[in-house]
Amino acid sequence: MTVTRRGFGKTREGCDLALYTIKNDNDMSVCLTDLGAAIVSIMLPDRNGTMRDVVLGYDDAEGYYSNICYFGAVVGRSCNRIDGGKFHINGKEYQLALNGDGCNLHSGPDGFEQRQWQTEKVTDNSVCFHIADRDGQQGYPGNFEASITYTLTSENELILHYEGNCDRDTIANMTNHVYFNLEGHDSGDILQQELMLTADYYTPVWDSRSIPAGEIAAVKGTPMDFAKTKRIGLEIDADFEQLKFAGGYDHNFVIKTDKGKVEKFAEAYSPKTGIRLKAYTDLPGVQFYAGNFITPQTGKGGAVYAKRQGFCLETQYYPNSINQEGFAKPLLKAGEKYETVTCYKFSVE
Ligand code: BGC
Repeated sequence: MTVTRRGFGKTREGCDLALYTIKNDNDMSVCLTDLGAAIVSIMLPDRNGTMRDVVLGYDDAEGYYSNICYFGAVVGRSCNRIDGGKFHINGKEYQLALNGDGCNLHSGPDGFEQRQWQTEKVTDNSVCFHIADRDGQQGYPGNFEASITYTLTSENELILHYEGNCDRDTIANMTNHVYFNLEGHDSGDILQQELMLTADYYTPVWDSRSIPAGEIAAVKGTPMDFAKTKRIGLEIDADFEQLKFAGGYDHNFVIKTDKGKVEKFAEAYSPKTGIRLKAYTDLPGVQFYAGNFITPQTGKGGAVYAKRQGFCLETQYYPNSINQEGFAKPLLKAGEKYETVTCYKFSVE
């Protein structure tokens, strides 16, 4: 196991940015930048020994500064949507920036993905990035300190360990927005790739603004059912209102995890490359997003990315749960510890 470091250009303020590469003994490597604490690449050999980079991303800092799709980035302090950008904590109303369709999406314009994180610790197989978000900086209460430690194991697991604390009660709901393509980031759409989710329920949305309506609906008998493995593309364009709203899958699934326990919630597989991804978390929800809104753009190595060329499994509390009765709330109490783990494990068949 080794970690190497090289430069990754400069921040807008002229500070040096870094790119870390963690490599294990199975020829798997993960590149991470301190800009947005983003995953830049995940490389591993496919069943024929051809190296595949299975995540979308950019070659340089400029790409990450204009990363409107949030490729690989850590999203915080709160991911996904907050209706009207408004919420209450301890009787006080807070208003966040409106950058979605009448909502706050991924914490708005001063998101964690646009900032340089401090590199706190590097070991022979891990990198820990730290961020300090000032009281009111994004509109949230309290000085929030957070870190993410990425660890690559000899079992080809990439473990994302989030920690944080705040000096006032606040929202904490971080995720990583990495886009997977198990055929390679430059291989076209993900529609032939297979997915299984350990979810019997999902949270249907009101309309195309993609805010959950508060209901927990069964997936059975609908195109939302991934309890048995199926191709992502099989029903993505079905005549089903929820899919019409979002132009395909972009929904929160209620996964069968037990608070405090890190459990498997998804498996994805490419029959073409033999690359399998198993995903684990201790969080109650996952936004399965099939990349419906990836705008045509140039990514790593000149690859041209477009609609549905990557899929995300964004682990989190349900969208807008801070405002929704009956949904577990992403509330972090002053002085308490925020801690959550998500793990992406790769294998080849
Ligand atoms: C959202 C999508 C959005 C994407 C990029 C996902 O988490 O659910 O609707 O297009 O992030 O912002």
